[in-house]
Amino acid sequence: MYAKITAFFMSGTGNSYKVAKWFSESMEGIHTGLQQIREQQATVTIGDNDLLVFSYPTHGFTAPWLMIKYIFRLPEGNGVHVVLLPTRAGTRILGLSLPGMEGTAGYLIAGLLWLRGYKVRGVAAIDMPSNWTALHWGLSDKNVKVIVDRGEQKVKRLAQTIALGRSFYNGFIPLVLGVLLAGVSFGYLIIGQMLLAKLFFASDKCNGCSLCKQICPKQSIQMLGNKPYWTYSCDSCMACMNFCPQQAIQVSPFTLFLYNYIGTIPVYFWISGNLGWSFIGQLPGSIWFLIQYVYILSSVALAYRILHHVLRIKPLAALLSTLSHTKYFRRYKSPGVSLGNIHRTD
Ligand SMILES: Cc1cc2nc3c(=O)[nH]c(=O)nc-3n(C[C@H](O)[C@H](O)[C@H](O)COP(=O)(O)O)c2cc1C
Ligand code: SF4
Ligand code: SF4
Repeated sequence: MYAKITAFFMSGTGNSYKVAKWFSESMEGIHTGLQQIREQQATVTIGDNDLLVFSYPTHGFTAPWLMIKYIFRLPEGNGVHVVLLPTRAGTRILGLSLPGMEGTAGYLIAGLLWLRGYKVRGVAAIDMPSNWTALHWGLSDKNVKVIVDRGEQKVKRLAQTIALGRSFYNGFIPLVLGVLLAGVSFGYLIIGQMLLAKLFFASDKCNGCSLCKQICPKQSIQMLGNKPYWTYSCDSCMACMNFCPQQAIQVSPFTLFLYNYIGTIPVYFWISGNLGWSFIGQLPGSIWFLIQYVYILSSVALAYRILHHVLRIKPLAALLSTLSHTKYFRRYKSPGVSLGNIHRTD
C-alpha cells in the first residue's frame, strides 16, 4: 500500500477539485494531501512509495496547457504510480444523461508522465456538469446533483480498484475520436483558447475589486484602468467568469463577429497584391500559415485593447452587456466547493 497520496487538481469551477478529493478520501488509512496546479506553483516532494492523482478539466478534447506544462515541472518519476482522472462535460437533456468527450485529455498526460518515468495505474474520465458558461446557459440544480452524485460513485469505485491492487484504463473510444480530432485540439491550443480570452469583458457592474485577477490560476488577468484585461495566456478555465461577485464578466457575440471579420482577411494575398510582393505567393504553405497566425493574433490584440478603452465608458459597457447572451446565463460552481477551496485569493 502507498505511504502517501497527493491529489493534484487544476480546477476552474471545482469539478476536478471534487474528483481529486473524492478519490484521495476513498483510500482509507493513507495520509493524503491536495495540491492546486497553478502557474509558477512549486511542486511537492514525492516519495518512491507515493501515489499521485491528477484531476483536471478537458478543454477542446484534450488537456489544458497548464496541465501539460505542469508535467514537465515534476521531478523524474522513478516508477512512482499515477492515476489520471480528467473531468469532462456531462449533461442531461429531458432526463437523459449524456457523457462528455475527453478525447486525448487522459492519455496525452498519461503518455507524458510515462515518458518522465512514472507508472500509470489508472486513466478514466469523470462526467461532471459542464462549466462552459461562455457557451451555454448551464444546468439546473437538479441535473447538477444527478451528474455529481454519479461522478462521486464512479470515483469511489475507481479508488476501490486501486486499493485492491488493480489498474484501470478506460476511454479507448474517446481516445480514438480524440486522435481523429487532433487537428481541432491543436487548433484550440494554439489559437482557439487565445481568441476565447479576448471575448471576455467586464460590464458596467464591475467595481474593480480585482478578485478575478487574484484567483486566475494562469495569472492571465491584468487590471488596466481599474478593469480586468484578459491576456493571451488565459486557459479558459472559467474561474473568473463564475466567481466574479458582481457577475460582471460577459462574453459578447458582437466581439466574436468582429474578430471573425478581422481574422478571416487573407493578409498574405493583401501583401502580395497591394505591396507587390508577389514572391509571397511562392512561399510554402507553412510560411503563409505563420503570416496569417501572427496577423490574427496581433490584429485581435489591437482590436481588444481599443475595445477595453472604449468600454470604460459605462453606458457602452452596459449596452454591450445587455446584448450579451451570457448576461442571461446561470453561473456555475461545483456544489459545496468554496472559492477558498480551489483558488488562492492573495
Ligand atoms: C473552454 C472549455 C472547453 C471544454 N471542452 C470540453 C471538451 O472538449 N469535452 C468535454 O467533455 N468537456 C469540455 N469542457 C467541460 C469541462 O471539461 C468540464 O465541465 C470540467 O468538469 C470542468 O472542470 P473544473 O470545474 O474543474 O474546471 C470544456 C469546458 C471549457 C470551459
Ligand atoms: S471580479 Fe468582477 S467585479 Fe471584481 S474586478 Fe473582476 S470583473 Fe470586476
Ligand atoms: S483569465 Fe479567467 S478563464 Fe482565463 S485562466 Fe484566468 S481565471 Fe481562467
